[in-house]
Parts: sequence; C-alpha cells; structure tokens
Amino acid sequence: MISQKLQEAINAQIVAEMWSANLYLSMSYFFAAKGYEGFASWMKAQAHEESDHADVLAQYVMKRGGQAKVGAVDAVPQEWASPLDVFEHVYKHECHVSELIDKLVDVASAEKDKASQDFLWGFVREQVEEEATVQGILDKIKLGGDVALYHLDIQLGARK
Ligand SMILES: [Fe+2]
Ligand SMILES: [Fe+2]
Repeated sequence: MISQKLQEAINAQIVAEMWSANLYLSMSYFFAAKGYEGFASWMKAQAHEESDHADVLAQYVMKRGGQAKVGAVDAVPQEWASPLDVFEHVYKHECHVSELIDKLVDVASAEKDKASQDFLWGFVREQVEEEATVQGILDKIKLGGDVALYHLDIQLGARK
C-alpha cells in the first residue's frame, strides 16, 4: 500500500500534469490563431500526452490502495512574443517538470517504497526524451529563422 506522504506527493504531480496539459492547449490555440496549424496540432498532441500522464499517476495511486485526487489547477499564460518564445517556455517548463519528478523519486525513496521508485523512474526517463525533443525544435528555430519555422510547422503537423 502506498504511504500517505507519497500519495499526497503524487496527487500534487497530477495537478502539475494537468497544468502542463492546459499550458500546451493554450499554446495550441495561440498557434492556431497565428496560422501555424502544424505547431497547433503538435501542441494539442502534447496536451493530450500530459493529461495521460496525470491519469497514469492516478491509476497507479489507486492500484496501490490510495485515493487519487484532482486538485485546483491554476490559470495558464495565453500570450507569447513569438514561436521561439513559446518553445523556450516549453523547454524551461519541461526542465522544471523533470525536477518535480526527481523530487517524487526522492519521496518514494525516503518512504522505502521500491515499487513506486520503479514506477517513477519511467517518468524520469520520459523527461529526458521530452527535454531532448524540445531542445531539437529550439535548435532548428534558432538555426533557420522564418524558413525553419515554415518547414517545422509542416513537419510537426505530422505528429499523431
Ligand atoms: Fe508530463
Ligand atoms: Fe511533459
């Protein structure tokens, strides 16, 4: 059974994942309004992935005999200066999420809960991929300016 302390920490992460989902949905609508349909669709897929993360965490808490809860989610930003600004924000945010996940592993480890550590390591590894993907997009935007944006918009629009 999951400890009260770890349950609360994971429930807090569920809120953080829902905030991320809302952030990316907001970014998706921002891009759609500017005519970047590919970026808009990529961000929407990103938003769905984040709400999936929240659900995976919730299902885990319940499987371990705990109670999953969805707390209040703060409002997310709605405006950015440019596509570069948006992706810099995503990168910064994903690095922040990586820190949150690392701290969750620390809680599981302090509780001597091996199964939860194992479960959470999956999230640690996923964060490495998330950071790398966004870093790659950022590199391309910085390299190629407007031409890169045009091509990236088409490329990212292909994400399922
Ligand atoms: Fe996530
Ligand atoms: Fe993420």
